Amino acid sequence: MDSFKTLKPFFIEHKWTYVLGILCLLVVDLLQLLIPEVLRSVTNNLERNLLTFDGLLIYAFYILLIGLGLAVFRFFWRILILGASRKLEYHLRNKLFLHLLNMSTTYYNRHKTGDLMAHVTNDIHAVRMACGPGIVAMTDAIFLNIAVIVMMSFTTDLRLTALALLPMPLLIFSMTKFGKLIHIGFKEVQESFADVTDKVQENISGIRVVKSFAQEESEIKGFEEKNEMLFQKNMRLAKIFGTFHPLVQFLSALSFVITIGYGGTLVIYGTISLGDFVAFTTYLALLVSSISVIGWVINVMQRGMASMDRIDIILKEQPEIKDTPYSKNLIDIKGDIIFNGVSFKHPKSSEYALKDISFHLPSGQSLGIIGRTGSGKTTIPHLLLRIYNTIEGSISIDDTSIEEIQLKSLRENIGFVDQDSILFSTTIKDNIGFGVDTYTMEEVEKFSRIADIHENIMDFPNKYETTVGERGITLSGGQKQRISIARALIKNPKILILDDCLSAVDTNTEEKILYELKKEMKHKTTIIVAHRVSTIKNCDKIIVLDHGTIIEEGTHQELLDFNGLYADIYEKQLLEEKIYN
Ligand SMILES: Nc1ncnc2c1ncn2[C@@H]1O[C@H](COP(=O)(O)OP(=O)(O)OP(=O)(O)O)[C@@H](O)[C@H]1O
Ligand SMILES: [Mg+2]
Repeated sequence: MDSFKTLKPFFIEHKWTYVLGILCLLVVDLLQLLIPEVLRSVTNNLERNLLTFDGLLIYAFYILLIGLGLAVFRFFWRILILGASRKLEYHLRNKLFLHLLNMSTTYYNRHKTGDLMAHVTNDIHAVRMACGPGIVAMTDAIFLNIAVIVMMSFTTDLRLTALALLPMPLLIFSMTKFGKLIHIGFKEVQESFADVTDKVQENISGIRVVKSFAQEESEIKGFEEKNEMLFQKNMRLAKIFGTFHPLVQFLSALSFVITIGYGGTLVIYGTISLGDFVAFTTYLALLVSSISVIGWVINVMQRGMASMDRIDIILKEQPEIKDTPYSKNLIDIKGDIIFNGVSFKHPKSSEYALKDISFHLPSGQSLGIIGRTGSGKTTIPHLLLRIYNTIEGSISIDDTSIEEIQLKSLRENIGFVDQDSILFSTTIKDNIGFGVDTYTMEEVEKFSRIADIHENIMDFPNKYETTVGERGITLSGGQKQRISIARALIKNPKILILDDCLSAVDTNTEEKILYELKKEMKHKTTIIVAHRVSTIKNCDKIIVLDHGTIIEEGTHQELLDFNGLYADIYEKQLLEEKIYN
């Protein structure tokens, strides 16, 4: 039961809920046991002609009372036990989400989104099933079955009980065997279903690519194959069910055959009364229905434990990048950045993404980074933000190594505009205010103006309240980039990093934005990553990256005079501009 260790505190906290719930469940079971007894008495009295009309009414009243009791106590155990399992599910889901958000980015390079989604949905569901319906059925299976067998043997006939129970082990065996087959079948259906939905989702979100490449036919063919697979899996499951149900019914019918044959004979010989016979068959019906649950309970419990183990593995994993007790909270940083002999290699990658990078960016100055695609530009801000840990060398801000700074304090002081400009499916206003706790509408507008997106936003139907993303409007690449810039600026960061986030705007707009930014970032540190020389030419210092190393550095003019890669890029871009303008 190692798998339930994580849940122990929850069970201890809610022990009275479970105890009370199980008590209600036991009351329900006891009440169920009363029904055969009432029937026994009624039949015996009818047979002996002892019943008047009034007497019959009293029996009817008993049954009604039992029915009422069953309803009330069933309601309470459902609320108590199933309610507790829902609460458990709620806590587990929160815990897992919190844990996942605290994991480092490298964790997500190692795990597929689909797998993590499966843990958050299927595994939590399996744990809830074990801790709710599983516990209920287990209590029933243990208590009700034993009680029924005891009642059958003591109130009717021991030999009849023993004979009627003969097919039961076979019933339990086939339930467990089939339970496994059904589980495997279900899993295959689910996986196949996920394939089908993935395909639909991919095609719908990528519909433009599918159409522009005229790939409808081949996509439909691919879909049909997956759909066919799902159909086959469903049919297999239907066949398993098709064999399973009749088999169970046949085996339980055997018990009734024995009861009618042998029990009937006992009635004829007068060994047991007709009432005993009726009560016995009612007990048997109760037994058959609750024994059939045993196989299910075993499977649900096993599945719950396996799922809990999987969730535990995730919960036990520590984020690779985290604070130590000595991490400092930098409150008023100046933004003086030093990279000293920094080298970095992505996990599993054999090549260095950065090699021996050293530079000093004094507070209040700007640094431009340029270089071919894949040359390591983005890796520099990623290391500064500690999205990855530096492997060799050191990075410091205001003479404090970034490894000694609290992650929250480090990242709060840096405004990072990511290359991908990812926005969330909410309003533009909320997207811009994403990184700060409180903000005013004036601030939102001010920074939108600096990012030259205010006018655009005012043209949208609901202005700043317009929802973006799948449920809202689709923004152009340049609009997304500029909203991301406003989102970084509103944090009022001491260090601002723009990673290739002016690539989708025209050079005139770029010039406007850079001019406004320069005013805003007057006493702050700025790093601008770009492919275009025009974006970075006014930076205080520029470094040119190639295959992860700095091959040239200096001001725009110095680099042009050097006549190396930078000058080469510049000339080509000048030429392009001449051709297109
Ligand atoms: N998660 C990752 N795992 C393995 N290798 C990676 C990963 N991310 C980037 N790389 C590799 O690291 C190198 C540097 O990547 P980086 O993103 O810094 O380049 P870049 O200069 O920003 O390129 P671009 O101009 O296209 O944005 C590349 O060779 C890239 O393939
Ligand atoms: Mg990049």
